[in-house]
Amino acid sequence: MKKLYIETYGCQMNVADSEVVAAILSEEYTLTNTMQEADLLLINTCSVRDHAEQRVRARLRELAALKKGNASLLIGLLGCMAERVKEALLNEEEALDFIAGPDAYRTLPQLISRAQNRENPFNVLLSTQETYDDILPIRYDTNGVSAFISITRGCNNFCTYCVVPYTRGRERSRPPETILHEVEDLANNGYKELTLLGQNVNSYSWRNDKENMDFPDLIAAVASHVPHIRVRFATSHPKDISDKLLHTIARYPNICKHIHLPVQSGSDNMLNRMNRGYSREKYLQRVARIKELLPHCTLSTDIITGFCGETEKDHQDTLTLMETVGYASAFLFKYSVREGTLAAKKFTDDIPENVKARRFNEILTLQQQLSLNSNLKEVGKTVEVLVEGTSKRSNKQLFGRTSQNKVVVFDGGDRQPGDLVLVTIHRCTAATLIGK
Ligand code: 5AD
Ligand code: SF4
Repeated sequence: MKKLYIETYGCQMNVADSEVVAAILSEEYTLTNTMQEADLLLINTCSVRDHAEQRVRARLRELAALKKGNASLLIGLLGCMAERVKEALLNEEEALDFIAGPDAYRTLPQLISRAQNRENPFNVLLSTQETYDDILPIRYDTNGVSAFISITRGCNNFCTYCVVPYTRGRERSRPPETILHEVEDLANNGYKELTLLGQNVNSYSWRNDKENMDFPDLIAAVASHVPHIRVRFATSHPKDISDKLLHTIARYPNICKHIHLPVQSGSDNMLNRMNRGYSREKYLQRVARIKELLPHCTLSTDIITGFCGETEKDHQDTLTLMETVGYASAFLFKYSVREGTLAAKKFTDDIPENVKARRFNEILTLQQQLSLNSNLKEVGKTVEVLVEGTSKRSNKQLFGRTSQNKVVVFDGGDRQPGDLVLVTIHRCTAATLIGK
């Protein structure tokens, strides 16, 4: 068998897609984790910010050198960048033999043979139906404990800054029985935690003559099917975080008490310009409802700083919203213009880099304080941790996560990955709980 090496950039959806790609190619290729012995090298890319694309460009230049020493090596580029830049990439990047967009992975065997014959080696067609629903992904880079399951693909929200509706196409949901089949397969293989994935998971919707399922129905079906397995989900859009979903999360002890709820900005002006579909007040009302129905639930978020026209007042609104919510963690980004998006067409990227950097540092400093405050509340408590592996710093210590998605490093004796253990927290940093 020939050898395949896959390098994945970007989000969890890309990790899940790479596992689908490994399955599609499994008749001809086995996976290797040594790049030098690969016959086929695939780079699964992200376009969400310019920086993500620049990293891949730099990587492709390094790979051009690797290829000079190995004439039979084929290199293919997958994912959002393939979809955004399209066939121009083949001219611009000498290392590349073929490209495939996110909905074209079933055609990879043909693309590979076309690349070998140097005829039209690209497919960036988007589909309104493809969910790879019948493909059982190969989890090749796994801790054996936690796994991702894609339940929706694409996005219909058209936030003005975001490239995803263009790179991943329209939103579509995967049939529930194929999701449950994958859940069962993972349970049989000893997995202890599943994350249901989609750009906007809570708009999951499956309808036919027999069934009518929304996201709360689906997650309830999964949680009751495997009551001994933890269930997570990402990412949720604030406009769809219904009471029905919150009641469902409350009802099942194995649905983790953590919601990733990207706010992007605390200012109504910015939220409007971003086309987020909610106001600051609406968002805060949903947060209040989460705190009421799920008192032990943590919240995390994504924030973009320095979006077009953002004033100091808008920035202050973001800081005060962060404080009001008290996020346990956050992914913070400086706005990066993406060609083809509505923001690129309609607005000017008018916040100077030094102002973006200063505002970024301010939200970062605040978030570190909020993360520390959130962790300090756990000190002295005994929490349940799912062991994922040994700590990076010392292989005598284990690490894992609580239901609230807090990372815990602890002395765990002979406990193994996959074990659920009770850990007493003695101290913490902003990023980690430390205990025994
Ligand atoms: N610039 C900066 N950050 C962005 N994100 C999406 N598009 C952009 C952009 N153009 C961020 C959002 C999103 C996360 C995945 O990436 O916060 O939630
Ligand atoms: Fe990057 Fe978004 Fe594509 Fe994920 S969906 S790879 S974050 S651009």
